[in-house]
Amino acid sequence: MQKQLLAGLIFGFLTCAIGAEEAKVEQRQTIFKKVEKGTESLEILIDHGAMSDVVVKADALSKQIAQLVNLFPEDTRGKGRSSSKIWKNWDDFSARLSRFESAYVQMSNAASNEDSKRVKQAFKLADSSCRSCHMKYRSLW
Ligand code: HEC
Repeated sequence: MQKQLLAGLIFGFLTCAIGAEEAKVEQRQTIFKKVEKGTESLEILIDHGAMSDVVVKADALSKQIAQLVNLFPEDTRGKGRSSSKIWKNWDDFSARLSRFESAYVQMSNAASNEDSKRVKQAFKLADSSCRSCHMKYRSLW
């Protein structure tokens, strides 16, 4: 009886832990998808010189990106399309995330100063980081 109870408890813990892991993987994928869509619409807004919309959108995206650093716990290694290099090179990966976030903060600040040159520079910075990070840290399947 006690054994069964123990087994039940262990099983409960395990399924709980697995559920939490999967939730993190899903959350980070959802954020990346939002960032992809959001960055596409930012490009259009920038082309149209809609600076006040850029302020709001870039700010919202920077806040989404800020959550990413907490969505790669060690126990999600090998899950989703994340390469295990992320955890081997955590300092480099987390520094990339933080530069990625600050590109959107810069974009938003520059837009609130109506400085379209700096907005475009920040956009380029954000847009070019996708590929280099994926090449190194996202697996092909
Ligand atoms: C700091 C590294 C990094 C940067 C910068 C980055 N990504 Fe990613 N991206 C990843 C990783 C890692 C994954 C895989 C997540 C997983 O499945 O565990 C990913 C996954 C994705 C996905 C797939 C989500 C899914 O459901 O499979 C999309 C879309 C995406 N990124 C778009 C972008 C775009 C667009 C940019 C730039 C505007 C970008 N990413 C910048 C690391 C990055």
